[in-house]
Amino acid sequence: MFVVVAVTGGIAAYKTVHLVRDLIRAGHEVHVVPTADALRFVGLPTWEAISRNPVTTSVHDDVSRVRHVALGQQADLVIVAPATANTIAKMAAGIADDLLGTTLLATTAPVVIAPAMHTEMWRHPATVANIATLRARGVVIVGPADGPLTGGDSGPGRMSEPTDILRVALEARRPADLADLHVVVTAGGTREPLDPVRYLGNRSSGRQGVALAAAAAARGARVTLIAAHIESDVLAAATHPRISLQRAGTAAELQSATTDAAQAADVVVMAAAVSDYRVAEVSESKLSKESTDGTLTLTLVENADILAALATERRPGQTIVGFAAETASGDELLERGRRKRARKGADLLVVNHVGWEHGFETADNAVLLLTEAAVGDAAGSKREVAEAVWDAVLSLRGEDSSPL
Ligand code: CTP
Repeated sequence: MFVVVAVTGGIAAYKTVHLVRDLIRAGHEVHVVPTADALRFVGLPTWEAISRNPVTTSVHDDVSRVRHVALGQQADLVIVAPATANTIAKMAAGIADDLLGTTLLATTAPVVIAPAMHTEMWRHPATVANIATLRARGVVIVGPADGPLTGGDSGPGRMSEPTDILRVALEARRPADLADLHVVVTAGGTREPLDPVRYLGNRSSGRQGVALAAAAAARGARVTLIAAHIESDVLAAATHPRISLQRAGTAAELQSATTDAAQAADVVVMAAAVSDYRVAEVSESKLSKESTDGTLTLTLVENADILAALATERRPGQTIVGFAAETASGDELLERGRRKRARKGADLLVVNHVGWEHGFETADNAVLLLTEAAVGDAAGSKREVAEAVWDAVLSLRGEDSSPL
């Protein structure tokens, strides 16, 4: 793969030397494009030696080969690490006053950036807006990580480690094998109101559903993401030009939005944690202890099973995927999963073990992938699990030969 690594003027540039080395070791052709400022941190000979290619910052070198756009045009992947607040602002505005700027404007390859700056700069509304602009254009943002910064201060702003940048960058290079598909993904936990201020909810963070939406969009799908409750920083990872977002609060709202969206979908993935029950009567006013005698009894009624209904009404060629969070483990987990898949009629059920300590609010996941014919498994980051789910969907649809 032809990879352009752009380096901007931050102390974290020294870590990018490792990133370039790892890319070279993995057999990639790497061209480093530093800004003039970046060379004050790590010098040109280092970049040339480590990348085994000539390095320049100027648009006026190698003019006969139209180098100012050639690198961007040839690139299969562009990584900007570290990406300073200044470069992020220039990217958002499309400024092309050096080789890095022209390369970024000339490329249609995936662009992955690893921001590095002080926490105040990262949180400044200008940077927040610029990052949102870049995300909306499909730029993938890795980090920044939280930890000690150069001035002795601490907080979000450290550039992510080279291994993390490399993993995310290689994920961004997935083939567009979902390009012809419209997929609907539900994510997050529904909330059933008891009264105007209280609700019954669950611990789902929405991370796995957001990872499914982001992975599908990166692989070319058109995605409708129907989000129940998800924190905004988690949801931010689903900002992509091919993802359209709808919000749903209760199970009934999720059902209505999903049923509508499913009409035109090739694949529906029910990753949302849907409340099985709602209160029979929502109180119009805030429930008060004054009107109880030390106990409160709530009458709950069952919500419709959205997944089962989608499976019953599926159109020919439509693939329905469910999730199941189970506290069982081992053989019992597998058996419960098998029964649930059959009961709900899903083509694929993604089963994970959850408990007080497992499965929620974490970055990693481990799942079983159950179809009528096969049992597969996947483990790793929620993004890696998401990729495995889409591989399994493609395999079920006969659009990929990789076995489950
Ligand atoms: N689900 C749904 N509608 C509901 C409840 C769940 O569509 N009212 C979906 C979830 O989005 C998930 C799958 O069904 O994809 C499994 O959810 P789970 O809560 O494990 O299933 P339940 O039917 O609640 O099974 P049980 O409570 O018996 O474990």
